[in-house]
Amino acid sequence: MNTPVRHAHVTGWGRYAPAQVLTNRDLERIVDTSDEWIVSRTGIRERRVAAANETTASMAAVASLRAIRTAGIDPDEIDLILLATLTPDYWMPSTAALVKEAIGNTRAAAMDVSAACSGFVYAFATAQAYIASGLAKHVLVIGAELLTRFLDYTDRSTCILFGDGAGAVVLSASEEPGGSLAFEMTTEPQGAYMIWLPAGGAKAPPSAGTIARGEHYIRMEGNQTYRFATRTMATTALSAIRKAGLEPDDIKLFIPHQANNRIIEAVAKGLGLPMDRMYVNLDRYGNTSAASVPIALAEAVNEGRLDVGDRVVLVAFGAGFTSGAVAIEWTADPARGIAGDAAVTADDVSVRLPVDWDSVDPIPEALAELMRRPGPVDVPLDDVVPGEPEPAGIS
Ligand code: COA
Repeated sequence: MNTPVRHAHVTGWGRYAPAQVLTNRDLERIVDTSDEWIVSRTGIRERRVAAANETTASMAAVASLRAIRTAGIDPDEIDLILLATLTPDYWMPSTAALVKEAIGNTRAAAMDVSAACSGFVYAFATAQAYIASGLAKHVLVIGAELLTRFLDYTDRSTCILFGDGAGAVVLSASEEPGGSLAFEMTTEPQGAYMIWLPAGGAKAPPSAGTIARGEHYIRMEGNQTYRFATRTMATTALSAIRKAGLEPDDIKLFIPHQANNRIIEAVAKGLGLPMDRMYVNLDRYGNTSAASVPIALAEAVNEGRLDVGDRVVLVAFGAGFTSGAVAIEWTADPARGIAGDAAVTADDVSVRLPVDWDSVDPIPEALAELMRRPGPVDVPLDDVVPGEPEPAGIS
């Protein structure tokens, strides 16, 4: 008797973005930049910032419960939890373990996946392999990041790019064809030090010296990273598409990693497709690293951009250098996502804290100060009396 072929279908999707918004104009007040520069070079207009009581695990848990509700299963039906992040709550335990408890799951194996901005696509491909091999029936795949706590707010070339958030999908086994069709993953370690966070690991354990030198912040060679991304994204996507027996024109929508609008334009050009095949929401969230693809996927589906039978490609690049792409045939009712989102709020979720310990002042001081002070107020010209002092709050 032949073993049935097991396909991995996306049955649930959900996202969470913290409420606080940090605009380009806000950033103008702490670094030498401008809204015009940031918009024209990246496409980013604003990003979200997690509140002091939020963590990577708490944001991940909200997105996960929304995805589980959308899938219409019980949290305890999840067999495996894969959480992609470069900003875990702790070095150990895994953030996935904290999320498992927060969503009320008692059965799943839970682990983090470390592949930077490609992490969600890597985790998705791993989930597909678990399902195809019969090792798991329902896998929760999460991308979650709290990047605003790892940025140097004196470095205008990095602090303008990143934001916080989480997205998740449920992949479920089925003998029905469709779902995840093929994937491609690459790693090019020549780029290992193009985006990196020098200190805190075994090579440079945290110390007063590493902190004084700012080695606990993300560093990036923007130009080199840009060059890698524009070279690799289209070829990685094309490889996954061809492995699925398809051509670029067969793909209804691409969900690219949301790093830079000019990079996404280069992907469209490389694939010979118009920009309306690329989903873009980086204007509102900035680069949320491993969270960017699942947030964008959930938004695209909830906005009616995908229907049953459509082919969609997720494609990402990031530190490592890594890149990954998955070609999917969409099989879920898109209408389910909005109800799943509405069913869960941030107040429904709590991540257990350690006994007798909580971090003090988790938000970097420069960012905390910026969020405390109200931003510039748009005063109608008629109301301006020449010589009057500027309204309070303008720095
Ligand atoms: N505001 C104003 N000027 C800025 C600035 C900012 N926020 N950041 C950099 N600049 C300046 C530089 O200092 C430089 O000035 P100089 O010519 O006087 O030295 C000038 O702008 C050009 O810098 P450059 O780095 O060449 O700009 P760019 O067009 O390459 O854009 C990035 C910079 C970061 C937007 C771009 O390289 C990029 O998007 N790279 C990919 C980054 C990425 O996606 N990372 C995440 C990977 S997952």
